[in-house]
Amino acid sequence: MIEVKNLSKMFDDLVVLDNVSFNVTEAHLVVILGPSGTGKTVLLKSILGIVPVDGGEVLFDGKPVQSAKGSEIYDIRRQVGFVFQSTALFDSMNVCENIALPLVEHTTLSNRQVRDKVQEILEIIGMVGKERLYPRSLSGGMKRLVAVGRALALDPKHLFYDEPTTGLDPIMRDRIVQLIIDLKKNYKKIGIVVTHDLDTAEKVGDDIYLLKKGKINKLKKIGKEVYNG
Ligand SMILES: Nc1ncnc2c1ncn2[C@@H]1O[C@H](COP(=O)(O)OP(=O)(O)OP(=O)(O)O)[C@@H](O)[C@H]1O
Ligand SMILES: [Mg+2]
Repeated sequence: MIEVKNLSKMFDDLVVLDNVSFNVTEAHLVVILGPSGTGKTVLLKSILGIVPVDGGEVLFDGKPVQSAKGSEIYDIRRQVGFVFQSTALFDSMNVCENIALPLVEHTTLSNRQVRDKVQEILEIIGMVGKERLYPRSLSGGMKRLVAVGRALALDPKHLFYDEPTTGLDPIMRDRIVQLIIDLKKNYKKIGIVVTHDLDTAEKVGDDIYLLKKGKINKLKKIGKEVYNG
């Protein structure tokens, strides 16, 4: 369980998070909806202690993030696979190498074990046969799939998806949405999806919140009017 309690964050005079609280309970995907520039990425990074906050705290299974030191923060962050908005793939590495990177850097697995794990992930993300391609020859959607694959490498308990479907065509968007749903159903990968896409929010969210002007509110149903007012 992830408990976000009264997080506040300002950049100079700009209030980005104003007493933001919500929980990610077991078996739930929480969606944070919000217009561009509202603070969704800052929120995800604040939760993991990557961005320092001005107030509040986050508990991972009761363990505080913001006051965690050294190996404690490393242990907490390792429970989360972060799918970056920019995908953050390395251009000089092929699909296989990009997915394998966390395993090579953070585990003592043998080459064979790394290969087996990458193969398993390629099957989950539907990229078998594309493992030798480099990011430059992948579509935007395929890069997202690989970014999800890399986030899965260390078998995290949670996944944080930052705008996983933004800018994709409808077919690719549906494929990513289905992957997020399958990862929850079949592999119990739960966590947070931040997006400004109402359709993605509706399809993947168990709980849906709107983040706007620093405030977070739980939505009962969503429609285009959520961004008004
Ligand atoms: N390091 C920083 N220094 C100053 N301002 C920042 C910093 N990081 C983010 N901001 C500002 O905080 C606000 C929220 O940024 P954030 O990137 O979280 O928005 P977002 O909701 O993820 O937007 P998008 O939909 O474009 O990804 C923006 O106004 C941004 O300019
Ligand atoms: Mg963002």
